[in-house]
Amino acid sequence: MIRHKALHNGFQYIEITNACAEAKIALQGAHVFHYKTKDNDPLLWLSEEAFFEEGKAIRGGIPLCFPWFGKHKTDTILPQHGFARTSLWSLSKTEEIDKDTTEVQLQLLPTPETKALWPYDFDVRLDVLVGSELTMTLSITNTDTKPFEISLALHTYFNISDVDNVVVEGLKGCAYFDSLEDKTYIQKEDLTIEEEVDRIYSKSAKDVILQDTHRNIVLRSEGSNSLVVWNPWVEKAKQMADMHDEGYRNMLCLETGNIREDARTVEVGETHVLKAVMKSS
Ligand code: BG6
Repeated sequence: MIRHKALHNGFQYIEITNACAEAKIALQGAHVFHYKTKDNDPLLWLSEEAFFEEGKAIRGGIPLCFPWFGKHKTDTILPQHGFARTSLWSLSKTEEIDKDTTEVQLQLLPTPETKALWPYDFDVRLDVLVGSELTMTLSITNTDTKPFEISLALHTYFNISDVDNVVVEGLKGCAYFDSLEDKTYIQKEDLTIEEEVDRIYSKSAKDVILQDTHRNIVLRSEGSNSLVVWNPWVEKAKQMADMHDEGYRNMLCLETGNIREDARTVEVGETHVLKAVMKSS
């Protein structure tokens, strides 16, 4: 079943339920802020203090960072992580494929506001498949008359039992840029989180597994050679208005991306596709 819903302030979202799973997707940002399969805990973390308000990004779920990731390269006044996560998308397709799988597609086209921030024509689609896995396919088509460069991410907040309990497998041997130190290192062991972490891993498209006490979350990425790992830890969590002081303990961001040297140039008429498939096992 696909239901169109709105909060008292008019904030619109879509609620999906099928025999296998449920999900919620905000029209602002095409932001998936809830997904869970029948016998599992929610896969995505959502801050208890998240804002569901026009123009503010939701803290949790899967914000979409586009057309740039992080701070803008040359103009730091421009919004962090681009404008996709705070823009209103339109619903372009809904389909109940079978009893276990629902497809929703959202579209973002340029407006005078996006043109003021980024002077290009584009057609961006997010295709979400809600089933035994959550599949997110972000397609960016260049409808302009000149090529453009983009950096982007599916900024996924995974829901974990406690940050002390998790191990991230699949990054051993990968180089990473430590955004806190501005330095590059090699990941020597499977990753555990014992402090603030903000890193961009260079990786080939093999699975990353987030091992927790009661489950493993598997993240498969396509069209991506970079993955961000982020946990704000104690001090940054305290500074965030939309995160509880202890919120950092139950989340870990593993963000399928195209960042730094993995940024992409999209030629006129071409489409770049970034995809993430995630599930618990
Ligand atoms: C991560 C970045 O992807 O997002 C961090 O690597 C950043 O540097 C974090 O702090 C959260 O960003 P925001 O804009 O949602 O607070």
